[in-house]
Amino acid sequence: MPSAPADDAARAIEPLLHPQGWALLNSLPPYREQDVLSRSSSLREAGHSPELVSAALTQSRLRARGEEKFGEFARSMLFTEHGLEQATRLPVAALHAERFQRAGVSAVADLGCGIGGDAMALAGLGLDVRAVDRDPLTVAVATVNLRPFPSTAVHLGSAEDHDPALTDGIWLDPARRAPARGSARGARRLHDPEEYEPPLSFVLDLARRLGERGGAAPGTLGALGAKLGPAVDRSALPEEVEVQWLSLHGSVLEAVLWCGPLAREGVRSSALVIGREGAHRLDLRADSPGDPVPGALGDHLYEPDGAVIRAGLLGALAERLGARTLDPTIAYLTADRRVDSPLARGYAVRDVMPFSIKALTGYLREHRIGVLEIKKRGTAVEPEELRRRLRPRRFGDEAATLVLTRIAGEQSVIVASPHGSTRA
Ligand SMILES: C[S@@+](CC[C@H](N)C(=O)[O-])C[C@H]1O[C@@H](n2cnc3c(N)ncnc32)[C@H](O)[C@@H]1O
Repeated sequence: MPSAPADDAARAIEPLLHPQGWALLNSLPPYREQDVLSRSSSLREAGHSPELVSAALTQSRLRARGEEKFGEFARSMLFTEHGLEQATRLPVAALHAERFQRAGVSAVADLGCGIGGDAMALAGLGLDVRAVDRDPLTVAVATVNLRPFPSTAVHLGSAEDHDPALTDGIWLDPARRAPARGSARGARRLHDPEEYEPPLSFVLDLARRLGERGGAAPGTLGALGAKLGPAVDRSALPEEVEVQWLSLHGSVLEAVLWCGPLAREGVRSSALVIGREGAHRLDLRADSPGDPVPGALGDHLYEPDGAVIRAGLLGALAERLGARTLDPTIAYLTADRRVDSPLARGYAVRDVMPFSIKALTGYLREHRIGVLEIKKRGTAVEPEELRRRLRPRRFGDEAATLVLTRIAGEQSVIVASPHGSTRA
């Protein structure tokens, strides 16, 4: 009978929790896949048990992978496969922690702390942290990872049993994955916030219980932050909270619910866009512009960052760019002037034509365009299928971006060059 994933995960950690195992792990050189077999044999020949060697090499691999999220800290941390997948990247966790610090919170309960990504950042800013998880192995791992921070305590327990009187702030990053149906391994993402563990209704109730401590008016929300999936519906959340969508290098990672003193006055939604040039924010307030008006294609096309779109900030971005939409239901913007913004990718428009494989083939041949980036919104055409049919490499070395979309109800192709490229 195959062993349960939880048993496998425990086997991959347990030998490392003993001093000899920990010492062996920390003595290993940087992980390289091609060295695993020879390293494994030499460690066994040196007298280490197969279980310890396997655990140490697995952990060494996870540490190498963990560097993407935790940088050099990963080299002294412990991970479980699932825990690493679900952990918040340290720079993002630092932004979460700053909110608590700016609001003057002194102690935070992290309910469902996982391997401790967010808890490390909170503790790193000097906050007292009570980290709780219901999974014993995860608690063991978080205990190791939080050891450098004396102001933390890690507990085995459930979020539902948390007493709001213990801390003046609460952070929750509910589990948003469930075992894939019909399989002992793999996971599927949960999109309904009531399926999260713990569910959104519990999170909101806890925000109220935290806010009502000490005799505050009924319905007052306390200093609670919770990470939700980016697809969460803003209209299903209370008016008075701030929901911030965060994107990192173009991918929308999360929507964070900020309650009570953690929400900024008058800000309903916001986008935090983090790229190579740093972090940029756009806020939705009661007086923010509404939906942008549709109009004709101009000399420039803008592809707004996903966080801006999710936060309902297309109108606010269009105002900044002096832009309009091509179609009220499609999130591309267009303008006559080039404006550089970290909140959108900009393109110089070279041509536009109705969608037709024959016309497009002729166009690419005529302009010797063989290097294509293909983007689409509001059309059923599949970029990879189109690329296969066009076989562009035969036409030459010129580069272009094809944007497949609908203009005034018609399937169209915009030929463009990214701002900053030699053609733009
Ligand atoms: C997404 S992970 C947290 C990741 C963490 N923020 C980090 O950065 O490492 C969610 C965690 O919540 C825990 N969990 C889920 N439901 C819980 C509950 N009701 N009480 C306590 N822990 C819970 C899971 O065991 C899991 O470790």
